[in-house]
Amino acid sequence: MNVCIIGSGAREHSLAKKFSEDKTVNKVIVIPGNIGMIDQKKISIKDVRLDNIDKLSSLLKSENVDLTVIGPEKYLDEGLSDKLQKLNHNVLGASQSSSKLESSKIYSKQVMNKFNIPTAKYISFDDYYAAIDYLNEWDMSSGIVIKADGLSSGKGVVVTFDKNVAKETIFDFMKNPKCTVKAKEIIFEECLKGQEVSTFAVCDGEDFHILGHVTDYKRVYDNDKGPNTGGMGTFSSPEWPPENIKRKIKDQIFSPLIEGLKKEGKPFKGILFAGIMIKNSEINVIEFNVRFGDPETQVLLPLLKGNFSNVMLNAAKGTLKESTALTHSLNSAVHIVMCSSNYPSIDGTKLGIGYPIQIDQDVNQHVVYGGVGQNEEGNLINTGGRVLGVTSLATTLVEARVEAYEMISKIKFTGAHWRKDIAKIN
Ligand code: AMP
Ligand code: GLY
Repeated sequence: MNVCIIGSGAREHSLAKKFSEDKTVNKVIVIPGNIGMIDQKKISIKDVRLDNIDKLSSLLKSENVDLTVIGPEKYLDEGLSDKLQKLNHNVLGASQSSSKLESSKIYSKQVMNKFNIPTAKYISFDDYYAAIDYLNEWDMSSGIVIKADGLSSGKGVVVTFDKNVAKETIFDFMKNPKCTVKAKEIIFEECLKGQEVSTFAVCDGEDFHILGHVTDYKRVYDNDKGPNTGGMGTFSSPEWPPENIKRKIKDQIFSPLIEGLKKEGKPFKGILFAGIMIKNSEINVIEFNVRFGDPETQVLLPLLKGNFSNVMLNAAKGTLKESTALTHSLNSAVHIVMCSSNYPSIDGTKLGIGYPIQIDQDVNQHVVYGGVGQNEEGNLINTGGRVLGVTSLATTLVEARVEAYEMISKIKFTGAHWRKDIAKIN
């Protein structure tokens, strides 16, 4: 079969690699992809405007594409999955209406409350002054979480115990023209405590299959300091979370959501990703996303055993039950992201980009590329915030971690920064 991946980041590179490893896959095209993706022989990149559906559809037909997988939430939110399915393409990607689970924090909270899915209490505001008044009464000793309603690349959430920071955040999200996050509505949430996990499932509208559980490091600096980012690194290990929690995640979160949406005539097809807070034996949903995570995918996929492309194609066709089983490796995986200077640049400071990337050839096969391009001399350079990442697999998490950092030490570019504490278990 032939596969098309939509997107240009390291997550899409990871997907392209996974499909290309499958013997039944002849070629993978990535639109628009990036230059770092094309040294695997089955993978090519194509530049077609994604808002020109007729051109895109013609390309998928002329390339005999059997399955299209959409990576970024932006395209799902714009209805790309619906538009391609109308033209008879097999697409794995949430519909525009399902995408609201991710693009509107308020809608997502309403759905969770309706289906009794455990989540933090919240209140929403569309008025700046009403939000400030409510904040003045808030007991800051247990913290507050402020979220911008709408897509914001992981930058629209601030967790703080400081009332001045909370005030600035409300101003930034609702009033500050210089802030990259812009929101008409915001929500305040109770601050949950515990350990986070991201759980992924592939869904065909009727059924779902859990793909795995991943820990993401969202803050930019070690020890969870600094602003939130899209994700600075991840790990996945069979021991975490414990089996009883994995069962609860399936029974109290995924089953009621998939069943509930089906009953309401809004079946969910695509990848569902729940961010969950675990405290002792209690679980609470922090958020839903309607796609693969970046950089969660970079550890999720290498640990999946079985015919991945068969399962993804069946999910797209609504026949997940007929697909061969996917099982989970007993190995652990660690992924570390290298970023350009000034990332995540919440205040709009310029990223340090355009620098050549030096990389040992033996490390390259473990690297996935995101924000990269080519300079006039044909050298690979950094062009975005999250530039690349390395994934290491080993029988233990400790070994996987050591190997991942060894690989990172063999990659250099000006201004590069990365977290030093990914998968560091005290
Ligand atoms: P979100 O974009 O909703 O996933 O939020 C980004 C990050 O903010 C999460 O991964 C958590 O680390 C943190 N966060 C969001 N909501 C809460 C909450 N209610 N309590 C504690 N931390 C939260
Ligand atoms: N790593 C978080 C996300 O993809 O949303």
